[in-house]
Amino acid sequence: MVADVSAAAKGKVYLVGAGPGDPELLTLKAAALLRSAGLVLHDDLVPPAVIAMVGRQALVLSVGKRCGVKHVQQAEIHTLMIEAARQNLSVVRLKSGDPLVFGRAAEEMDALRAADVPFEVVPGITAAFAAAAQIGCSLTDRRTASSVKFYTGHKAADQVPGQESPTEAETRVIYMPGRSFRSLAEDRLREGDTADLPCCVISRAAQPEQSIQWSTLGELGNVVPGPAPVLLLTGWALAAAAARDAGEHANDSAPLSVGPDCVPAHDL
Ligand SMILES: C[S@@+](CC[C@H](N)C(=O)[O-])C[C@H]1O[C@@H](n2cnc3c(N)ncnc32)[C@H](O)[C@@H]1O
Repeated sequence: MVADVSAAAKGKVYLVGAGPGDPELLTLKAAALLRSAGLVLHDDLVPPAVIAMVGRQALVLSVGKRCGVKHVQQAEIHTLMIEAARQNLSVVRLKSGDPLVFGRAAEEMDALRAADVPFEVVPGITAAFAAAAQIGCSLTDRRTASSVKFYTGHKAADQVPGQESPTEAETRVIYMPGRSFRSLAEDRLREGDTADLPCCVISRAAQPEQSIQWSTLGELGNVVPGPAPVLLLTGWALAAAAARDAGEHANDSAPLSVGPDCVPAHDL
């Protein structure tokens, strides 16, 4: 039985991952949103086979790059999304792969927040994982590798200068981080990362029992993670999200919740 995926809400923007190009690699949620959207703004890397899944009622606009040149400027994309949502359309901003990997989603989310337009991110399969699947290679083959990093060959001209330590310019996503982060934090501090480096511990991400704990490298050793599975993220790219969370919880007396069933468990 296929899950009942709700249709796109009106007056809302969805940043949707189209995956690597095979329509069968779309999520059920992405497919449902494409069927019911009022406006779809897509990048050029999204192939016709995926665009073909858009409902007939939708207006479809390509807002991507041609030969490296954007024919619609980023600010215009922001305006299109915001205006359409304000006209009560459900807007799908369709990006190849995963919308949060190398795709200017950060700027788009900033613009939507500033305009007070509700939005939601729907993850997709990023190119790295699609390529790995095609060549039958585990990027984390435990016999030969213990980490994967995503780099771009194209650096934004307006990138905020990196911090002193080279590792601080990296966002690290640490799978299977264990139940104690003390030694991990101590190692990073010894390597030269600073104590105020933002960290986030997510237990059961995108599940009903999800819990999120924000910290810094200096405090990370005191964090007791929620129930497995747990992911640890570190890096200055998290700073704005950490600040937003702090603002939202400014009046809370209790520390950020960990699930009620927070019991020690193996991190699978
Ligand atoms: C602007 S980035 C967008 C990445 C995308 N958000 C993702 O998660 O895959 C565009 C780059 O992703 C890579 N890419 C995207 N889809 C791909 C595919 N199906 N096969 C190979 N590389 C792909 C290429 O390096 C391309 O230049």
